[in-house]
Order: sequence, then C-alpha cells, then structure tokens
Amino acid sequence: MTRSKFLGFGHYVPTKVVTNDDLAQMFDTSDEWIQKRTGIKERRFIEHAGIGPSDLAVPAVKMACENAGVTVEQIDAIIFATLSPDHDFPGSGCFLADKLGLPGVPALDVRNQCSGFLYSLQIADAWIRCGMYRRVLIVGAEVHSTGIDLSDKGRDVAVLFGDGAACALLGPTDEGEEPGVIDVEVHADGAGAKLLWIEAPASSQMPRITHEMIDEGKIWPAMNGKQVFRWATTKLPEVIHSVLGRNHLSMSDIDLFVPHQANRRINEFVCQKLEFPSDKVVHNIERYGNTTAASIPLGLSEAIEEGRVQKGDSVLFAAFGAGFTWGAALVRL
Ligand code: UT7
Repeated sequence: MTRSKFLGFGHYVPTKVVTNDDLAQMFDTSDEWIQKRTGIKERRFIEHAGIGPSDLAVPAVKMACENAGVTVEQIDAIIFATLSPDHDFPGSGCFLADKLGLPGVPALDVRNQCSGFLYSLQIADAWIRCGMYRRVLIVGAEVHSTGIDLSDKGRDVAVLFGDGAACALLGPTDEGEEPGVIDVEVHADGAGAKLLWIEAPASSQMPRITHEMIDEGKIWPAMNGKQVFRWATTKLPEVIHSVLGRNHLSMSDIDLFVPHQANRRINEFVCQKLEFPSDKVVHNIERYGNTTAASIPLGLSEAIEEGRVQKGDSVLFAAFGAGFTWGAALVRL
C-alpha cells in the first residue's frame, strides 16, 4: 500500500527582530517577566504593512522544493494552515497558489490554529495514501503582529506571538519503502472555544463589526492563559501516550521531539511528565515566540538545517491550541 513520506522542508521568517525590551517601550511589561513566564526573548514582525502569510510562505516553499529536488510546478495540491489569513476570504492557499504560479492547483485552507499543521499533515497523508494527489504541499504561516493589542490591556497575549512561515512537501513512498508518516491523531473540544478567541468581526452579529466592538477591544485575541496552560499540560501527554501506544513505541524510540512552541514552560512540563531528555527537544520559542501553525515545521526545518536529525530518524510532533484543538504525530524522516 502506498504511504506518504516527507520530500523536503522549508522556512522563512521576516527580518525585523522585536525584543522583549522593544515591547517594554510600547506597554507595561519587562524582559524579565516575559522570559520567566514564557521563555521568549525575541520574535519576528513583518517589516511593513502589505505582507501577508502567503507572502512569507513563498520563500519557505522555494526552500522546501529545492531541498526535495522538485520544481514548484510539480506540486499537485496545497494545504495552508493559518489563523491569520491574508483576508477573511478567499483562503491564503489561493493567494499562495497564484504567487507560486500554480493556476488550477487545488488549495485548501485549514483553520485549526496551533494544531493546524497536524490537521494538514493528516489530510495530506490521507490524500497520498488513497492516490488522490502525489505531491502535497503543507504550509503553516502567520502574520500575528498586525492582530495583537500592543497596549497594557493586551499585554498577556501580545508578548507571546510572532510572524513566520514554514512548510513541508509530501509525496508517496516507493514500493517496499517504509512510511514516512506513521500516524497522526488530532482532537477538538469546543467547550474551550471562548477561552482563546477573537470575538469580532463575527458573522453571527449584525453588523459584523461596529465602532463599539473596536472600542471595547473585541477585535483582539482574548485568552484565559491559566486555563489554556492547564488544558495543554493535560492533553499533550495524553495524546502522545495514545499515539505511541497504538504504534507499540515509547519515548525512548524517539530521536527528536518537535512540540508546538506556545510556552517553554508547557513543553518543559510535558517532557518532565514523559521523562524525555531535554537535548532531544526542539525549543525555538526564545527566538520566534509562538508562530502558531508555523511552529512545528519551522522547528523541524531548522533542526534538519543544523544536522540535529538524519534520514531514518523517528520524530514526534505535538500541539495544543485554540479551539481547543490538539494532536500528535509520529513520522520517520
Ligand atoms: O498556542 C496556545 C496559545 N497560548 C498558550 O498556550 C498560553 C498558555 N498560558 C500561558 O502561557 C500563561 O498563562 C501566560 C504566559 C500567558 C501568563 O502566565 P501566568 O503565569 O498564567 O500569568 P497570569 O496571567 O496569572 O498573570 C500574572 C501577573 C498578573 O498580575 P497580578 O494580577 O498578579 O498583579 C498579570 O496582570 O502578570 C501580569 N501580566 C504581565 N506582566 C507583565 C500579564 N501579562 C503580563 C505581561 N507583562 N506581558
């Protein structure tokens, strides 16, 4: 049976570095508070208005194609995961397809926030297994910097997020070859939907946006940080145990763990609970903050570049985020 494997990874982050001290010039916070509570030292913001996630994705895709040894024209389908799409509609996948010069190639947007890359991976894997498409591009890209409240009121959320893009190109395994994507498990629980969300604009309101909504700050992300933290530290070990158990594997079989980068404390807590050594974990939150759908492919793409993983290594992904949504995946490079 045909399974799917990774052909190449790519990433791109904007050049503008925003340090914690830079944020402390804008609102009441400090480098000490941010580092202690989150592990973040700096993040990237787009250099100027007019740059969307589909723009950040273009160099990432070119890098992935180069690493895979395929041309952009050989991409059969695009899955674009983002919570900060270029526009409400159409999807960022359509904008990206146009920027890559791929007319007619199907493009699907996935709106599953921090778990977006895992949901996309599951879809791409299923498409390849059933023979629907051969080369599927999965992208995670975000421009958060234009959508956070950079004032005292929004400081709990504003310090966390950064802009960036990363992607993976998947293709079918050859006959007799081991699968690259071994298993992907994803979940959602809408009971937590309003614990991390943006209230407006909303199609359930008439009109969808008013001056009052803007004045009341309903256009900015709102989060109950403590609840998100609690859910994340419960659900992540649970889903990791589930995916490992189903495949008769344990953490000692894993060469590299690439968790979503929401808060370094969350990931350290999870590794402690799983008794997983810290030198086998990717942490890049200190340099990029939370890049949501981009964080997992960004982490792995950099780890490959740094030579931290080799072909044939077993890699574990895990993510938790808004929705709530969460999941884990086991892959072999
Ligand atoms: O991808 C999923 C997305 N999000 C997450 O996974 C986030 C999960 N949650 C977290 O990471 C943490 O809850 C935060 C880092 C967001 C906050 O850490 P915390 O330890 O839960 O802090 P807190 O919200 O309880 O706030 C503690 C204090 C408060 O002051 P008082 O009431 O003790 O006087 C806040 O007002 O820290 C204050 N505070 C800040 N101070 C400086 C909140 N944000 C900031 C800030 N700078 N940026």
